[in-house]
Amino acid sequence: MRDQASNLKNSQIVAVISGKGGVGKTLLATNIAAVIAENNKKVLLFDADVGFTNADILLGVYPKYSIKDFVNQKCSIENLVIPTSYGLDLISLGGDVSDLLTANELVLKDFAIHFLKLLENYDIVVMDMPPGFSTNYMPFLSLVDEFVIMTTPEPTSVVNTYTMIKLLSIKGIKGESIHVVANMVENVKEAQGLMERFTEVVEKFVGNRVSSVTMIKDHPLVLKSIHDRQLFALKYRSIQPSFSIMRIVSYILKTELKKAEEETLIQRFINFFRGDH
Ligand SMILES: Nc1ncnc2c1ncn2[C@@H]1O[C@H](COP(=O)(O)OP(=O)(O)O)[C@@H](O)[C@H]1O
Ligand SMILES: [Mg+2]
Repeated sequence: MRDQASNLKNSQIVAVISGKGGVGKTLLATNIAAVIAENNKKVLLFDADVGFTNADILLGVYPKYSIKDFVNQKCSIENLVIPTSYGLDLISLGGDVSDLLTANELVLKDFAIHFLKLLENYDIVVMDMPPGFSTNYMPFLSLVDEFVIMTTPEPTSVVNTYTMIKLLSIKGIKGESIHVVANMVENVKEAQGLMERFTEVVEKFVGNRVSSVTMIKDHPLVLKSIHDRQLFALKYRSIQPSFSIMRIVSYILKTELKKAEEETLIQRFINFFRGDH
């Protein structure tokens, strides 16, 4: 088991989360995954968000199986992985996790073992998570190295984001693993001022200084790219939203370099039971 584990990669897991839906999680997760893949990394996009735009539509693929089929023993975990023309693979939860939660212990264990092993085949796994923190998704969130929290510059969304960071902090997540993205920004200067005040409040009351804050403008070509089923960060490289995507990707790749020396997920898991953590 040990030898097997040491042959595996040390995957970096990035979750894209938000307080509420419709803030651009799927759009961001898909575009960052594609730009990471373009940087010659092996990338898996895990679509766990049951929202507006699905990652499969943006990527132009049609998932044949979902985790429900795995639970019902109709397919293997490998059957769930869909290669895309962007050089990244997609795996879709295909609904919510209730199918897994109601599965018997053996199926759940089988899924956990195969899923962890699958993740270890990739340099970077990008998880597109549902809005909020549902306890159902905690097993997936427990694997995450870095969080990208998306908000819009509206006060209600920003307050939601503050609550999310507070909850992450309670779970022991440090600010250095948290990136904040303000999306659909109309006025960058105004939003920047708001986000600066926001990070100060977070630091003061949560004691956590977030790693980075990035603005993404509300842009007509972003909307056009969705309608044309293209990825804006690849199609329109010189627009502000694409520069922001590259910036977020560069943060992720920097952490990936550091992580290369750390233990693998399976080793981490084994060490936990051994008490080596
Ligand atoms: N930067 C942007 N510029 C223009 N429209 C955007 C931008 N970001 C998001 N949108 C719009 O918001 C919608 C919801 O985005 P989506 O990624 O599906 O959100 P979520 O996954 O958080 O529910 C998109 O379909 C698009 O119409
Ligand atoms: Mg979504």
